[in-house]
Order: sequence, then C-alpha cells, then structure tokens
Amino acid sequence: MEQRRVGDVEVGAVALGGANWSLLEIDPAEVEATIDAALAAGVTLIDTAFVYTKAGVECHNEQLIAAVLAGRGADAAPLVATKGGHYRDGDEFPIDGRPETIVRHCDASLAALGVDCIGLYQLHLPDPKVPFAESVGALAELKDAGKVRQVGLSNVTLAQFEEAREIVAIASVQNHLSPWAGQAVFHPGGPDGTSPEGDVLAACEAAGVAFLAYAPFTGPFGPDGESLPQAPRPGLEAIARERGVSRHQVIVAWLLAQSPAVIPIVGASRPASIRDAAAADDLRLTGDELARIAAPATAGAA
Ligand SMILES: NC(=O)c1ccc[n+]([C@@H]2O[C@H](COP(=O)([O-])OP(=O)(O)OC[C@H]3O[C@@H](n4cnc5c(N)ncnc54)[C@H](OP(=O)(O)O)[C@@H]3O)[C@@H](O)[C@H]2O)c1
Repeated sequence: MEQRRVGDVEVGAVALGGANWSLLEIDPAEVEATIDAALAAGVTLIDTAFVYTKAGVECHNEQLIAAVLAGRGADAAPLVATKGGHYRDGDEFPIDGRPETIVRHCDASLAALGVDCIGLYQLHLPDPKVPFAESVGALAELKDAGKVRQVGLSNVTLAQFEEAREIVAIASVQNHLSPWAGQAVFHPGGPDGTSPEGDVLAACEAAGVAFLAYAPFTGPFGPDGESLPQAPRPGLEAIARERGVSRHQVIVAWLLAQSPAVIPIVGASRPASIRDAAAADDLRLTGDELARIAAPATAGAA
C-alpha cells in the first residue's frame, strides 16, 4: 500500500477506525478478523478514542485493540491513535476539555492500551467551555512528560489549527471529509459546518500535517443499511459500475486523490469491508471522474 506520513511515522494510506466495534457492540471475533484483514492489506494506522466505549465500561475500544494486537507481535504493530477530552456517560457523550480531564483520559488510555507512550494522541474536539489553548497545553504537557509521542487535533477550524501550532507541534488533524459534506467540523450542540476561516486540508498539506479524514461514508447509519447517505451522487454510482468496484472503494480513492496529506479512516466491522476499502489504493481516478463523484444529481453529473 502507498505510504503517507503522520509526523515522522510512515503509515499505509488507508487507516482503520474502531468506533463502531464498541458503540454498536460488534462480536469481538469479527473485530479480530477485521483487524487481521486490515493488517494483511497494509493498514498500519488504527484510530480509536476514550469515548468509543460501551455504556458503563471505560476504554472498551482500546482494550479490544490491545488484546488483538498483543497476539500479533512486533511485526504487526500499527500506529494506534487515540483521543481524549470526550467521554461516554450512559447514552450521553459529553465533552470535557479541561487539562486535568485530558490527562486523566490519557492515563486511562495508556493503561487500556498497555503501553508507556501513545504514538498519536488527539484532542477529540474543542470544548466551548474551556479556552482552547488550555486543552492544547495539556497535550503539550503529555508530550513533554513522554506519555505521548505525537500530538493531533480533531474537529478543528483553521483558526484553531493555527492557534494550536503555536503551542505544540501538530502531527495530524482529524476532520470529516466526504463527497457529500466536503470538509466538515462537528460542533457539539449545533449544526455541523465547515471551518469559517477557510480550508483546513490545504493548510495541513502546506504544513506537512496529516489530514485524517474520518467517516468517509458519513457513518454507519445510512438509510439503506449500506452506510451511504441518500443524497444521490449519480457520478459516483456510474463510476463504480464502469470500474466494476464498490461505491465505497470509489469514495476512498476520491479521498486519497484530494491531497497527499489525506489518510481516510475507514470504519469497518467486517474483513470484507476493510479489504475492499484498502484496495482503493490501486484505483487511480481521472480528473474527470473526480469531478463527477462529488457532483450532486442536479448538476446532471452522470
Ligand atoms: N474524530 C471524530 O469526531 C470522529 C467522528 C466519527 C468517526 N471518526 C473516526 O472515523 C472512523 C470511521 O467512521 P464511521 O465508522 O462512523 O463511518 P464510515 O467509515 O463513514 O462508515 C462505516 C460504515 O461503512 C461500512 N463500510 C466500510 N467499508 C465498506 C465497504 N468497502 N463496503 C461496504 N461497506 C463498507 C461499514 O460496514 P461494516 O461495519 O459492516 O464493515 C460501516 O457500516 C471511526 O471509527 C472513527 O475512528 C472520528
């Protein structure tokens, strides 16, 4: 698989996200098979978070990943990226970006992952109740203390990205990117939107910072049960037919083509899903195809 960079670490261009394994309570045997399929396909980045857990359990996702990787040895040791500042309380998912909370979440993740140092530690999302610089300052302190090797951000605007870079070296930004939403930032308690100050992906590319594109298919809750949303993208459907590949694979190839900084984080709970998505590494789309994929039906793009 093509290699891309997260700071000073090379990773396969397609990454695997584990959120649904815990949030949707997937059979652990299926998770294990999915991680094995990902590693075999060249995936070397697995994304998780403190908040990706079952109700009443702390760090379920991280423990699951650690248990599978413990049996695989050093040759199959992917970069495991986790996040703090967001937690689960029953059916609620509150944000807490206070420095002391971020440190507590990081300590819990270290223990759950069974490591002395986390390869990539990300602020899950800015907390409107806490000055952003204070949350980022906690990440810098964790790095100084040797608890995390590299620092990342998630759900940030361009202004927040630039502010954070004044405080600590940033290796990655994890924001949404898809043919439907373009770039989007999750705003708790309000509508999602784009960065009002401009293009976060372009800024990441210019700064040599990885852009971890989350939920490329807009999540697992699509109305057709296949995870893709309803808004028609006739170009996408047509290209998948013409190329004889899945729509999901076309989307991953579209993401990879947006910038060399992009690393799509594919949510998969079945080996077939991650094998198929990882094969997008071999799918080179033309400029015309790229334009058709994101064009809405009204543009008559097919
Ligand atoms: N930072 C943030 O705020 C944030 C927010 C959301 C997500 N994320 C990250 O992004 C990751 C992915 O997000 P997500 O899982 O919500 O959304 P997603 O990746 O857009 O969609 C996942 C869905 O796509 C299906 N799928 C994947 N590859 C497929 C293929 N080749 N063919 C058919 N179906 C396929 C999966 O099916 P199966 O499960 O059946 O395999 C699952 O239903 C998360 O695990 C997490 O790491 C981060």
